[in-house]
Amino acid sequence: MKIAVVGASGRIGREVADVLKNQGHEIVAITRSTGVDVYTGDGLAEALTGVQIVIDAVNATTTETDAVTDFFRTIARNLQQAAAVAGVTRIVLVSIIGIDPFTAGHYAGKLAQERALTEGPVPVRILRAAQFHEFTEMMLEWTTQGDVAYVPATRTQLVAARTVAEKLAEFAIAETTPTAVIEVAGPEELNLADAASKVAARRGTPSRVKEVTNLDDPNHELQSGGALLPGPDAILAGPTFAEWLDQHYPTR
Ligand SMILES: NC(=O)c1ccc[n+]([C@@H]2O[C@H](COP(=O)([O-])OP(=O)(O)OC[C@H]3O[C@@H](n4cnc5c(N)ncnc54)[C@H](OP(=O)(O)O)[C@@H]3O)[C@@H](O)[C@H]2O)c1
Repeated sequence: MKIAVVGASGRIGREVADVLKNQGHEIVAITRSTGVDVYTGDGLAEALTGVQIVIDAVNATTTETDAVTDFFRTIARNLQQAAAVAGVTRIVLVSIIGIDPFTAGHYAGKLAQERALTEGPVPVRILRAAQFHEFTEMMLEWTTQGDVAYVPATRTQLVAARTVAEKLAEFAIAETTPTAVIEVAGPEELNLADAASKVAARRGTPSRVKEVTNLDDPNHELQSGGALLPGPDAILAGPTFAEWLDQHYPTR
């Protein structure tokens, strides 16, 4: 099949493109670096010529609520419009577990993206993933000041990006699915700051990870209260965080 992966150079995009390529599918890589901008729409119609399935794994560079909402909503509408003209059979989105009550930041933007995409006309499937094991690395990068990382209190069921990519590929190409929305998470509930501190310890930096409550974030209680945890029907799959850690940061 000819499958377009939007965000094909990203953390999840490159993994899903790799999984599908290994299965013999033809991949159209869509990123600004390949000359296609899904926000402005430049080059999108041409890129989707002959494409049967679009996988949307794009990401925003801002977390400011209005800007991120505008970004995700606009790309959803642009993708729907171009996909309909190109005769694409379905769009498959990677989203995030538990975002329904969120009103701010990245999660609110993803919710707007889901809603705009499902306004059609091309049929949509949504894979909602938990935060990736790799999210701990992103957290350290974003929140380290001096020698301390300040990680927001978050209950999560971290999952490997590669595992999400495998489930996403399977879900995208399945002829039929019992439901248009699925959840994929790791095997166990974790505390994000604890997990990030294990990565920091293996890396040797930062020297301390401190769990914080950001009272300026209107959704901090949702994150610390377990809103991002998977529901009872979620697909749970390894590796565990400890296994992933040993693979990526082996002890000497
Ligand atoms: N990280 C997590 O823990 C997690 C968990 C669940 C779900 N997700 C979701 O997974 C999605 C992907 O996240 P990620 O961390 O894999 O992303 P990422 O590594 O930041 O990669 C983003 C990708 O989007 C492309 N892109 C950005 N703006 C674009 C534009 N205007 N036009 C075309 N391509 C554009 C980038 O390429 P260029 O810069 O070259 O354009 C890149 O390939 C996100 O929507 C996120 O919400 C992430």
